[in-house]
Amino acid sequence: MQSPDDLRNRREAVVRLWDMSRGAVLLPGGLPVPVPGTDQYHDFHTHPEFAYLSGARLSGSALAFDPGEGWVLFAPVAGLEERVWVGDGEDLDALAAATGLRVRPLGELSGWLEHRRGETLALLGNDDITHQPAAYALESWTALELEVDAELSARLSEQVSESRRAKDSSEIALMRGAADASRAGHLTALRLARPGMSERQLQIELEAEFFRNGAERTAYGSIVGTGSNGAVLHFSPTSRVLRAGEIVLIDAGAEVGGYASDVTRTFPIGPRFEGIQRDLYQLVLDVQQAAIGEVRPGVEYKQLHLQASERIASGLADLGILRGNPAGLVERDAHALFFPHGLGHMLGLATHDAGGCLKGRTASDRFGLKWLRADLPLQPGYVVTIEPGIYFIRALLTDPARREQYRDVVDWDCVDGLLDFGGIRIEDDVLVTGTGADVLSGSIPKSISEIEALRAEAHSR
Ligand code: GLY
Ligand code: MN
Repeated sequence: MQSPDDLRNRREAVVRLWDMSRGAVLLPGGLPVPVPGTDQYHDFHTHPEFAYLSGARLSGSALAFDPGEGWVLFAPVAGLEERVWVGDGEDLDALAAATGLRVRPLGELSGWLEHRRGETLALLGNDDITHQPAAYALESWTALELEVDAELSARLSEQVSESRRAKDSSEIALMRGAADASRAGHLTALRLARPGMSERQLQIELEAEFFRNGAERTAYGSIVGTGSNGAVLHFSPTSRVLRAGEIVLIDAGAEVGGYASDVTRTFPIGPRFEGIQRDLYQLVLDVQQAAIGEVRPGVEYKQLHLQASERIASGLADLGILRGNPAGLVERDAHALFFPHGLGHMLGLATHDAGGCLKGRTASDRFGLKWLRADLPLQPGYVVTIEPGIYFIRALLTDPARREQYRDVVDWDCVDGLLDFGGIRIEDDVLVTGTGADVLSGSIPKSISEIEALRAEAHSR
């Protein structure tokens, strides 16, 4: 539940940013996508702009704003057939109390729009209303003769994204709930994983624990990769079995109230990290903890990414995998052979949340920077992930052009011996406070001693 006061404050802040004296704004929440061959739908994800400003997660609804009349939420009223097949739907008075909005039946949307014929309209949220008007109780979109201003729509949408960056207390409470459910799932995985179990079985145990602990769904498709599968950044779990001597990478997060958590842990299938697993794991952990230690208001996220890249380059040079001075290696993007993604991203209503790049900044197409999904100075209330990793990705490391380009700075014989290693990623969700960081997922074990204690316990059962 979000506080109606927080929802009102969000809307007021956005209206101040929009600074409109005329025109109107329409934000459809989106429609469910049918599953062919059934009379059911794919899991419905409300458009985040609609969810942020209304606090509701309804399909087939639209939020509307006009500087003269303020906000109104048009929500569907279930007809007889819907009541028979899917239930009575939301009570409009209860919706008004929960959201602090004036709520009207969806059937009144067409009159609201007709009244604005010839006025400038900004269309935010989901534009499915333009090609599926009947689902929003409209006879036709074109017949309404609305003048949708694409430039205005883009400006207002950008301002909603800016507003979404700093989370309010309702959002932070939901994100703590999501992180707690993730904790329960990751702990279960750490306690249950055994040689012979499949990636898929581990996913099922982990997700069941998310749901038992309040998750409404997973925030994204759970990633479970053992052995070399751990080097595929977004690997979908398979029937491959866990083998002693290998490591498993689990990147999975619970979602609560529409808000995501995003957590990665990597641990040995056996009771202990072995050989180079231990060195590389400690390196990734040191890099992650150093980056979290540097989180505070005003710090540029890109700078954190570059510092993490340099630490990874330095650690890989200490292990003899890279050769050269860390700053020079990062300048040449050599670290990206092993750490090809960004340090993380904004987190909130979306896993890769809105507003990750400051207006006017665009992602660089440099190999070592192009997957950096956030480029902005951190501010109190922002939630970002910090997720460095080291991977042995066959596709990158056997690419002849890259081998030639980095001939002098990589020990390729050593790399060839590690092509089945997989990958290590450690990821936490970090709330920027007034002075530093509050790690929402911080109590999920990640030190070598904590992990090995849990793994030893698992093997003694
Ligand atoms: N956890 C998935 C991602 O950050 O892309
Ligand atoms: Mn992530």
